[in-house]
Amino acid sequence: MFVIVKKIRSTQKLVPLVSTLTRQQRCKFSSLPELTKDRYPNVKRGNYGHIDTNHLIFFKDLLGETRVITDESECLGYNTDWIKANRGYSRCVLKPKCTREVAAILKFCNENVLAVCPQGGNTGLVGGSVPVFDEIVLSTSLMNKIVSLDTTSGVLTCEAGCILENLENHLDEHQLMMPLDLGAKGSCQIGGNVSTNAGGLRLLRYGNLQGTVLGLEAVTANGEIIDCLSSLKKDNTGFHLKHLFIGSEGSLGVVTKVSIQCPPKPKAVNLAFLGLQSFDKILTVFKRCKHDLGEIMSSCEAIDADSLAVTTDHLGLKSPLAKFPFYMVIETNGSDNGHDEEKLSRFLEDVMGDGTVEDGVATNEPSKMKAIWELRERITEGLIHDGYVFKYDLSLPLENFYSLVGIMKERVGADAVRVSGYGHVGDGNVHLNVAVKEFSPEVLHKIEPFIYEYTSKLNGSISAEHGIGFRKTKYMHYSKSKEAMDLMRNIKDMMDPKWILNPYKVLPQ
Ligand code: FAD
Ligand code: MLT
Ligand code: ZN
Repeated sequence: MFVIVKKIRSTQKLVPLVSTLTRQQRCKFSSLPELTKDRYPNVKRGNYGHIDTNHLIFFKDLLGETRVITDESECLGYNTDWIKANRGYSRCVLKPKCTREVAAILKFCNENVLAVCPQGGNTGLVGGSVPVFDEIVLSTSLMNKIVSLDTTSGVLTCEAGCILENLENHLDEHQLMMPLDLGAKGSCQIGGNVSTNAGGLRLLRYGNLQGTVLGLEAVTANGEIIDCLSSLKKDNTGFHLKHLFIGSEGSLGVVTKVSIQCPPKPKAVNLAFLGLQSFDKILTVFKRCKHDLGEIMSSCEAIDADSLAVTTDHLGLKSPLAKFPFYMVIETNGSDNGHDEEKLSRFLEDVMGDGTVEDGVATNEPSKMKAIWELRERITEGLIHDGYVFKYDLSLPLENFYSLVGIMKERVGADAVRVSGYGHVGDGNVHLNVAVKEFSPEVLHKIEPFIYEYTSKLNGSISAEHGIGFRKTKYMHYSKSKEAMDLMRNIKDMMDPKWILNPYKVLPQ
């Protein structure tokens, strides 16, 4: 047991992570959102075919009856996104089990001009994972085999539908870990992670998927299988095609297999949860962390009081600290616990001694670390209990990381139940959330496009890690030049000339 500052009072009783709920349970979680086509009437259905009996006969011949879902209530979970912000009305969900089936589906859809929405764990936060209209849902959830694990190099090769947490558990047996971790780990799939280029809680230490994904296999719109499943760390032979699929959110192809570099599981993990009076003090602590914890720092997260409150008030979690305007979660991963404890202990004594940090707890007991991490990881879930959440995921210069929260509070005023900010301060990535009782176009107009103009003026990114999906297509130009967007469009035209893959997403119509 390692307690530097003070003992965590008790082992908290944990409620299950919403990310571990089943698709059907998630649908019952709150009332259904309005259909996307009604909420956004300016978006028109493309000139795609409508599913008919002949199409269904083809799919059933290919996959069998049980892997072609057409029942309305069964389709509902695949039509509705996790944050209950978007809902399509597809009546065709396909569940291939292998790359060959994915290829046959896409070839057929391309020939018949049927639109397809690839879907992994459906935890995406920008409306990319669900149909906008009646697109066929291509779910990778049955493509969940681990192909190989080289325990010497740490290279894991697996199918796209493997759930992140299952991969983590498998690696754990071999003293390895996944290079990414996020609150949705119980549901999100590696194919979805790669397709969104997900960041998560330890990016500052283990890097992003553009670096850790060594290779992948993908199927393009015409059903061609692109085998770039290299497990080599170094391979400079021609264009790095894998990058076309990492972060392109299913608009250029369906990722079917991934090979990924997994780091060794740290022998020593320590976690501190700190209370602070101002955001400036968070920046001071972060800067000092980089110098004083250096190579062992694995996560540096910021949480404001309103964000923490949703986990305590709505989800019943217990905070080990009294109320503060701001909190930080700082984690270390190392190989020598004595060394790490001493280093973290000295660091915390310093920042508390000079008043930068008001109060804090530190631990390396797994159950207590889990309880602290839940306070951070379950904010997304807690916010949904407020009603509808306008979610923003911005990269901003650190000195402006939190300023938008105050500005937005003034703009939205009493229309909001809550305006809060938290996120990956170590990566300059803030999650700004405006929670309202229910979706309101008036509130939306108070926030957008202002928030994107503001971000653009500061040379930030309008999407740091969640992607563009359906919700941000109109605003990509705030972060990308016309020439860059033209090139993206040309690539899309070349790889998916009929635009059957995830239409209405990523690129503006
Ligand atoms: P889905 O939601 O199913 O799909 C996401 C996008 O990828 C869609 O556009 C979909 O069409 C496409 N896609 C999915 N699978 C494939 C495939 N095999 N081939 C091609 N395209 C595909 N994101 C972060 O970056 N960092 C976080 O810390 C983080 N935390 C989260 C916490 C919670 C509680 C939740 C609900 C979400 C969080 N997210 C986070 C957002 C989300 O991007 C990730 O959860 C995850 O990467 C999405 O994976 P998924 O399998 O659920 O993909
Ligand atoms: C997070 O960091 O918790 C996720 O990106 C999800 C969110 O922004 O709510
Ligand atoms: Zn995040």
